[in-house]
Amino acid sequence: MKSKTKRARENRQTANMAVSEISRILTFLTIVSFIYIVYSFQPLTKDEHIERYNKMNEDIEPFRKNLTECARQVKASMADVEKFLKRVPQSNMEGKCFVACILKRNSIIKNNKLSQENLLEVNRAVYGDDSEVMSRLKTAILECSKIVEDIFEICEYASVFNDCMHMKMEHILDKITMERRMEALGQMSSNPDEWSEEEDEMLKLVKDEL
Ligand SMILES: *[C@@H]1O[C@H](CO)[C@@H](O)[C@H](O)[C@H]1NC(C)=O
Repeated sequence: MKSKTKRARENRQTANMAVSEISRILTFLTIVSFIYIVYSFQPLTKDEHIERYNKMNEDIEPFRKNLTECARQVKASMADVEKFLKRVPQSNMEGKCFVACILKRNSIIKNNKLSQENLLEVNRAVYGDDSEVMSRLKTAILECSKIVEDIFEICEYASVFNDCMHMKMEHILDKITMERRMEALGQMSSNPDEWSEEEDEMLKLVKDEL
């Protein structure tokens, strides 16, 4: 009787020891993996961040240059450039010619004619194989092309087409994208030669959506 109780107590003690051993091992493993995660991921994230930042600047610089050059070329004001970035319809000739200049530089308008293939290609690079977006885009391009069909003045042609596309595609625009864009615009400088990092973010977004 007595030895039975003793053996049961010993068994229980062995079990308790095993449990505490396991939990010690688990604690150890948790700490080790935590240290591993901290040390292995921190430099990677930093590198990625730098890489992304550089990539972003590489992407933006030519676009920013194009914006500035087009503004000079057609004597567009900062307000005109802002309208383009905000996707507000242009109201004066300089603003309309600014849109034409940008679309020409991106080969969306070639030989004074809209290049549907190039426009689709630019968007495919952004939206990938999102067939929903691409099919809406194709429909929008067809409808907007029809609207500008009889316009022969290139600045009018470009800006009417651009406005039409934005109207047709607006609903698919990511709300967050738009919010970020507006936020960036709030910090925009009035001189097209002086751009801030926040504007770069916005410029990249606009470039992607051209
Ligand atoms: C800027 O304009 C050049 C042509 O002048 C064009 O080749 C290039 O793709 C444009 N870049 C961007 C990012 O808009």
